[in-house]
Amino acid sequence: MRIDIITVLPNLIKSPFEASILKRAQQKGKAEVVLQDLREFGFGKHSQVDDYQFGGGAGMVLMIEPILNCIESLQKEREYDEIIFMTPDGKTFNQSDANHLSLKKNLIILCGHYKGIDQRLRDHIITREISIGDYVLSGGELAAAVVADAIIRLIPGVLNDETSALTDSFQDNLLAPPVYTRPADFNGWKVPEILLSGNFPKIDEWRHEQALKRTEEKRPDLLE
Ligand code: 6GU
Repeated sequence: MRIDIITVLPNLIKSPFEASILKRAQQKGKAEVVLQDLREFGFGKHSQVDDYQFGGGAGMVLMIEPILNCIESLQKEREYDEIIFMTPDGKTFNQSDANHLSLKKNLIILCGHYKGIDQRLRDHIITREISIGDYVLSGGELAAAVVADAIIRLIPGVLNDETSALTDSFQDNLLAPPVYTRPADFNGWKVPEILLSGNFPKIDEWRHEQALKRTEEKRPDLLE
C-alpha cells in the first residue's frame, strides 16, 4: 500500500512514520508513506496556498489549484482508490473504516488547515471525509497520522504475530480482556489463577467473559 499525505506542515507528521511498527512496515515493503508538501504547488514567490474567503469572515481557506495540481501530479503516476479529506465535520473514524481502507492499494490523505479547503474540492474531488472525534485539532495532520497508523498495522505481515490484530479491542465490537505478566504475585497482587493453569480452552473462555464484562462496564454502547 502507498499513502500520500498532502500537508502544509510535513514536519509535523514525519516522526510517527519513522519509529516502531510504521517504520518496520515501510522497511518490509508492506507500506510506503510519502509526505507531499503542498507549498511546492503554491503560487508566487511566497508559494501561496491559501486565500481570504469569499463573503468575508475570519480565517484563510486552502485554494483549489495548489491542491488539485498536487493530486493530479500523483494521479499521473498511479491510480488512487480514495482521496480522503481530514476534517472535524467528517465521518467519525472507527475500526470498521480502518479494516476497509487497509485493503486498498493507493490512498491520498489531504490534511485540512485554517478554515478548511474550498468546498468545490469536497464536492468534486474528495471521495471520503474523516474526523477522528468530536474535538477540534489545529490541523488534519495529527488525525492523518492516527488514521494511517490504524490502517497500516492491519496490512498482513506488518504485525509480527498476525493474530494480534484480530484480538485487538473493537475487532469484534468487544474491548480486549485484561493482560498480566510476571511476577505472578506482586506483594499480594495476584494474577488470576486461571491464566497460570495451562488449560487453554478454559483460558479462552475466561478471556471472552472478561472482554464482555469490560465492554458492559466501560462501553455498553458497543453491545447495542
Ligand atoms: Cl480530521 N481535523 C481537525 N482539524 N480536527 C479534528 C479532526 C480532523 N478530527 C477530529 N478533530
